[in-house]
Amino acid sequence: MSYRSANAAAYDRLVRSGSAFAKVATDEQCANPLATLDSRGWLPKSVEGLEVLCLAAGGGWQSILYASAGARVTVVDISDEMLALDRREAARRGLAVTAIPLSMDDLSSLEDSRFDIVHQPVSTCYVPDVEPVYSEVARVTKPDGLYISQHKTPTSLQVTHRTPQGQHVLGLEYYRETALPQTEDTSYRETGATEFLHRWDQIVGGLCRAGFVLEDLREPIRAERRAPVGSMGHRGRFVAPYVRLKARRVAMQEKSDGERRLWTP
Ligand SMILES: C[S@@+](CC[C@H](N)C(=O)[O-])C[C@H]1O[C@@H](n2cnc3c(N)ncnc32)[C@H](O)[C@@H]1O
Repeated sequence: MSYRSANAAAYDRLVRSGSAFAKVATDEQCANPLATLDSRGWLPKSVEGLEVLCLAAGGGWQSILYASAGARVTVVDISDEMLALDRREAARRGLAVTAIPLSMDDLSSLEDSRFDIVHQPVSTCYVPDVEPVYSEVARVTKPDGLYISQHKTPTSLQVTHRTPQGQHVLGLEYYRETALPQTEDTSYRETGATEFLHRWDQIVGGLCRAGFVLEDLREPIRAERRAPVGSMGHRGRFVAPYVRLKARRVAMQEKSDGERRLWTP
């Protein structure tokens, strides 16, 4: 089975089992949508009228919050059941959200330079190569547009199990191109999903090579001081599971010395 159909099926199942990934936005969150979406202050003060792409973001959370804040929202996902939640919640709240089944590494039905903001929750782990995702996002983002994305860190995906002393073991090699095998430690892995490890060179360097400039980088903290051994909060004390990137679409130009630098008028 291809990574696309495997992950579509995995997320369809997660929706049916009531997973936390399929939690739709609440009334309270919709009352203050930008604060809910953006505790770091990365978004503009208003997104009213802006074209927003919620990429690999089905499930009725991001799309509904952006639409509640007045944005014109397109949500793309591989899972029909995740997208059904976006459509259902948009209809229930009288919001206009366009939900399109697509894979993040082929957005060919979306036109060039369409979006002011692209917002992608953790999901690049579901494709073998992050480079086509970035080049598609660069293509559909307006010049000066914002790209917010969150990724699983490579170290987190290398963890396979825990020793009897409670130490977390990096049991998988850093340089691997094939899908990750099943592991004993599944804390930050989704059941039945086909996942891939992307290196820092690919996650951060690839973003710059695709025509973005990094404006901020955060590691959401999942460490909990007194969390018991074996819990996600305990593991989070040793390995940061996620990285969140704020990037800006820029034009690059080849200068007379042959170096590629930011375009400056
Ligand atoms: C962690 S969920 C993110 C959505 C959820 N609203 C959230 O905030 O947790 C990851 C999403 O990526 C989607 N996905 C997996 N592979 C994909 C692909 N190749 N193209 C587009 N979406 C994909 C899944 O269906 C799922 O909805």
